[in-house]
Amino acid sequence: MKPEARIAVCPGSFDPVTYGHLDIFGRASQLYDELWVAVFHNASKNAMFSVEERVELLRETTADIPNVRVASFQGLVVDFCQKHGAGVLVKGVRAVSDFDYELQMAQMNYGLRGIETVFIPTNPLYSFLSSSMVKDVAKWGGDISPYAPEIVQSRLIERLGQD
Ligand code: PNS
Repeated sequence: MKPEARIAVCPGSFDPVTYGHLDIFGRASQLYDELWVAVFHNASKNAMFSVEERVELLRETTADIPNVRVASFQGLVVDFCQKHGAGVLVKGVRAVSDFDYELQMAQMNYGLRGIETVFIPTNPLYSFLSSSMVKDVAKWGGDISPYAPEIVQSRLIERLGQD
Protein backbone atom coordinates (compact mmCIF):
# COMPACT_ATOMS: atom_id res chain seq x y z
CA MET A 1 0.00 0.00 0.00
CA LYS A 2 1.28 3.48 -0.80
CA PRO A 3 2.12 5.51 2.34
CA GLU A 4 -0.40 8.24 1.55
CA ALA A 5 -3.23 5.69 1.40
CA ARG A 6 -3.01 5.45 5.21
CA ILE A 7 -4.34 8.99 5.61
CA ALA A 8 -7.93 9.74 4.65
CA VAL A 9 -10.06 12.86 4.44
CA CYS A 10 -13.75 13.17 5.19
CA PRO A 11 -14.89 16.49 3.69
CA GLY A 12 -18.23 18.21 4.12
CA SER A 13 -20.18 21.23 5.28
CA PHE A 14 -21.04 19.79 8.71
CA ASP A 15 -23.51 22.59 9.45
CA PRO A 16 -23.79 21.17 12.10
CA VAL A 17 -22.30 17.73 12.73
CA THR A 18 -24.88 14.96 13.36
CA TYR A 19 -24.76 11.38 14.65
CA GLY A 20 -24.82 10.33 10.98
CA HIS A 21 -21.47 12.05 10.38
CA LEU A 22 -20.04 10.78 13.67
CA ASP A 23 -20.95 7.21 12.76
CA ILE A 24 -18.98 7.55 9.51
CA PHE A 25 -15.98 9.16 11.30
CA GLY A 26 -15.87 6.37 13.87
CA ARG A 27 -15.95 3.66 11.23
CA ALA A 28 -13.52 5.40 8.85
CA SER A 29 -11.08 6.05 11.69
CA GLN A 30 -10.74 2.27 12.10
CA LEU A 31 -9.73 1.86 8.47
CA TYR A 32 -6.97 4.51 8.36
CA ASP A 33 -4.08 5.63 10.54
CA GLU A 34 -5.22 9.22 10.41
CA LEU A 35 -8.56 10.72 9.42
CA TRP A 36 -8.92 14.40 8.64
CA VAL A 37 -12.41 15.81 9.00
CA ALA A 38 -12.33 18.83 6.71
CA VAL A 39 -14.92 21.61 6.78
CA PHE A 40 -15.37 23.18 3.37
CA HIS A 41 -15.40 26.96 3.47
CA ASN A 42 -18.18 27.59 0.95
CA ALA A 43 -18.84 31.32 0.60
CA SER A 44 -21.84 30.71 -1.66
CA LYS A 45 -23.71 28.55 0.86
CA ASN A 46 -25.75 30.21 3.59
CA ALA A 47 -24.59 28.40 6.69
CA MET A 48 -26.10 28.58 10.17
CA PHE A 49 -22.73 28.17 11.90
CA SER A 50 -19.46 29.83 10.98
CA VAL A 51 -16.60 27.63 9.81
CA GLU A 52 -14.86 28.21 13.18
CA GLU A 53 -17.99 27.14 15.09
CA ARG A 54 -18.35 24.02 12.95
CA VAL A 55 -14.70 23.13 13.49
CA GLU A 56 -15.10 23.61 17.24
CA LEU A 57 -18.21 21.40 17.36
CA LEU A 58 -16.41 18.74 15.35
CA ARG A 59 -13.37 18.88 17.65
CA GLU A 60 -15.56 18.53 20.74
CA THR A 61 -17.63 15.66 19.34
CA THR A 62 -14.67 13.68 17.92
CA ALA A 63 -12.44 14.17 20.97
CA ASP A 64 -12.89 10.48 21.86
CA ILE A 65 -11.47 9.29 18.50
CA PRO A 66 -7.70 9.71 18.86
CA ASN A 67 -6.73 9.52 15.17
CA VAL A 68 -9.24 12.14 13.99
CA ARG A 69 -8.03 15.65 13.22
CA VAL A 70 -10.26 18.55 12.25
CA ALA A 71 -9.49 21.45 9.92
CA SER A 72 -11.18 23.74 7.44
CA PHE A 73 -10.25 24.38 3.84
CA GLN A 74 -10.99 26.62 0.91
CA GLY A 75 -10.60 25.56 -2.70
CA LEU A 76 -10.34 22.04 -4.01
CA VAL A 77 -10.58 19.11 -1.64
CA VAL A 78 -7.86 17.32 -3.65
CA ASP A 79 -5.46 20.17 -2.76
CA PHE A 80 -6.28 19.66 0.92
CA CYS A 81 -5.56 15.93 0.44
CA GLN A 82 -2.24 16.64 -1.23
CA LYS A 83 -1.21 19.10 1.49
CA HIS A 84 -1.85 16.49 4.18
CA GLY A 85 -0.50 13.45 2.33
CA ALA A 86 -3.90 11.80 2.04
CA GLY A 87 -4.70 9.49 -0.86
CA VAL A 88 -8.30 8.71 -0.01
CA LEU A 89 -11.57 10.55 0.49
CA VAL A 90 -14.23 8.89 2.62
CA LYS A 91 -17.89 9.63 2.00
CA GLY A 92 -20.98 8.30 3.69
CA VAL A 93 -23.75 7.28 1.32
CA ARG A 94 -27.26 7.36 2.74
CA ALA A 95 -29.30 6.29 -0.26
CA VAL A 96 -29.15 5.79 -4.01
CA SER A 97 -30.11 9.45 -4.40
CA ASP A 98 -26.76 10.45 -2.83
CA PHE A 99 -24.84 8.19 -5.13
CA ASP A 100 -25.31 9.99 -8.43
CA TYR A 101 -23.60 13.22 -7.33
CA GLU A 102 -21.07 11.44 -5.15
CA LEU A 103 -20.01 9.32 -8.11
CA GLN A 104 -19.46 12.44 -10.24
CA MET A 105 -17.37 14.05 -7.51
CA ALA A 106 -15.38 10.84 -7.00
CA GLN A 107 -14.61 10.64 -10.71
CA MET A 108 -13.62 14.31 -10.83
CA ASN A 109 -11.37 14.01 -7.78
CA TYR A 110 -9.70 10.92 -9.23
CA GLY A 111 -9.24 12.70 -12.55
CA LEU A 112 -7.78 15.81 -10.91
CA ARG A 113 -5.16 14.16 -8.66
CA GLY A 114 -5.66 10.41 -8.59
CA ILE A 115 -7.37 10.68 -5.18
CA GLU A 116 -9.57 7.63 -4.58
CA THR A 117 -12.99 7.79 -2.90
CA VAL A 118 -14.22 5.12 -0.52
CA PHE A 119 -17.95 5.02 0.12
CA ILE A 120 -19.25 3.83 3.47
CA PRO A 121 -22.93 2.94 3.60
CA THR A 122 -24.62 5.00 6.29
CA ASN A 123 -25.96 3.15 9.30
CA PRO A 124 -29.68 2.60 8.48
CA LEU A 125 -30.46 4.34 11.78
CA TYR A 126 -29.34 7.57 10.11
CA SER A 127 -30.19 6.97 6.45
CA PHE A 128 -32.77 9.79 6.42
CA LEU A 129 -30.68 12.20 8.48
CA SER A 130 -29.15 15.43 7.23
CA SER A 131 -27.90 18.61 8.87
CA SER A 132 -30.69 20.55 7.10
CA MET A 133 -33.34 18.27 8.52
CA VAL A 134 -31.91 18.52 12.04
CA LYS A 135 -31.93 22.34 11.75
CA ASP A 136 -35.51 22.32 10.51
CA VAL A 137 -36.76 20.02 13.28
CA ALA A 138 -34.95 22.15 15.89
CA LYS A 139 -36.40 25.32 14.39
CA TRP A 140 -39.93 24.07 14.96
CA GLY A 141 -39.25 22.83 18.47
CA GLY A 142 -38.89 19.11 17.68
CA ASP A 143 -36.71 16.75 19.69
CA ILE A 144 -33.35 16.32 17.98
CA SER A 145 -31.68 14.38 20.79
CA PRO A 146 -31.63 11.12 18.75
CA TYR A 147 -29.82 12.87 15.91
CA ALA A 148 -27.13 15.13 17.32
CA PRO A 149 -24.88 15.27 20.39
CA GLU A 150 -25.85 17.43 23.35
CA ILE A 151 -23.42 20.23 22.56
CA VAL A 152 -24.85 20.53 19.05
CA GLN A 153 -28.39 20.53 20.40
CA SER A 154 -27.65 23.35 22.81
CA ARG A 155 -25.78 25.41 20.20
CA LEU A 156 -28.71 25.00 17.80
CA ILE A 157 -31.27 26.03 20.40
CA GLU A 158 -29.09 28.99 21.39
CA ARG A 159 -28.66 30.07 17.75
CA LEU A 160 -32.35 29.71 16.91
CA GLY A 161 -33.23 31.71 20.01
CA GLN A 162 -31.15 34.60 18.65
CA ASP A 163 -33.19 34.82 15.42
O1 PNS B 1 -21.57 18.30 3.13
P1 PNS B 1 -21.58 18.68 1.66
O2 PNS B 1 -21.97 20.13 1.50
O3 PNS B 1 -22.44 17.76 0.85
O4 PNS B 1 -20.06 18.52 1.14
C1 PNS B 1 -19.72 18.81 -0.19
C2 PNS B 1 -18.19 18.86 -0.32
C3 PNS B 1 -17.61 19.87 0.63
C4 PNS B 1 -17.62 17.49 0.00
C5 PNS B 1 -17.85 19.22 -1.80
O5 PNS B 1 -18.59 20.32 -2.19
C6 PNS B 1 -16.37 19.53 -1.98
O6 PNS B 1 -15.54 18.64 -1.95
N1 PNS B 1 -16.07 20.84 -2.17
C7 PNS B 1 -14.72 21.32 -2.28
C8 PNS B 1 -14.47 21.96 -3.65
C9 PNS B 1 -14.05 20.89 -4.64
O7 PNS B 1 -13.07 20.22 -4.46
N2 PNS B 1 -14.89 20.74 -5.67
C10 PNS B 1 -14.69 19.71 -6.66
C11 PNS B 1 -15.12 18.38 -6.11
S1 PNS B 1 -15.82 17.48 -7.35
